[in-house]
Amino acid sequence: MGIKERVNQVYTSNNHQELTKNYDIWSDKYEQDLIRDSDYLSPDKVAYFVLKYVPKNGKILDAGAGTGLAGKQLYDYGYTNLVGIDISEGMLNKARQKNVYTQLYKQVLGETLDFSTNFFDAVICVGVFTYNHAPSSAFDELIRITKPGGYIIFTMRPDFYEINQDFSRKMTALESSGKWQFLERGEKYYSHSNTNSDTILEVWMYQVISK
Ligand SMILES: C[S@@+](CC[C@H](N)C(=O)[O-])C[C@H]1O[C@@H](n2cnc3c(N)ncnc32)[C@H](O)[C@@H]1O
Repeated sequence: MGIKERVNQVYTSNNHQELTKNYDIWSDKYEQDLIRDSDYLSPDKVAYFVLKYVPKNGKILDAGAGTGLAGKQLYDYGYTNLVGIDISEGMLNKARQKNVYTQLYKQVLGETLDFSTNFFDAVICVGVFTYNHAPSSAFDELIRITKPGGYIIFTMRPDFYEINQDFSRKMTALESSGKWQFLERGEKYYSHSNTNSDTILEVWMYQVISK
């Protein structure tokens, strides 16, 4: 199965159980698909914003860490206070082998997260706010566990954002209610520049204001 079929399979998962199973199965080949056969740009795109705003000693949650590609990128840039969560143990096991996170836990975005309020200086979420993955309600918990003044940085497909009004409404509502403020929306980029993938992504960046 090629990367397009794998992506299609996880995008069309019917529930969390099926999604978890699909990622558990993909975990062995995930990095081969994303790195060796293509050129996965999101970790570097997100790292650009982290470097711009978050001090090197900041405590950062990689939410939906997968095999740890974004964490490894941040670690290589000098961030060593990294915690990761993911719904898939298979993906987490691969992330463990990288030795770049201080802790890795199985936790589900969209449910209550097992971290205290105001715990993190920043949260990154790479490739997770998309079709049949994490719901927009997950932002509430990410805001709760991020310190006021801290940052929430995530990737999203512009087509998903346009079609899925649930996300645009939630993101706007959180701003109107003073929970977070919009900082930046990065330039659009192709997720895999080496293949003829037509998947376009953007990085969004918000600053947490209050709970
Ligand atoms: C496309 S992968 C991205 C992984 C990693 N962030 C990267 O950039 O390589 C999406 C990851 O999100 C995880 N995931 C999907 N839905 C989730 C949820 N609701 N809660 C936690 N993790 C989730 C999957 O298990 C998978 O590891």
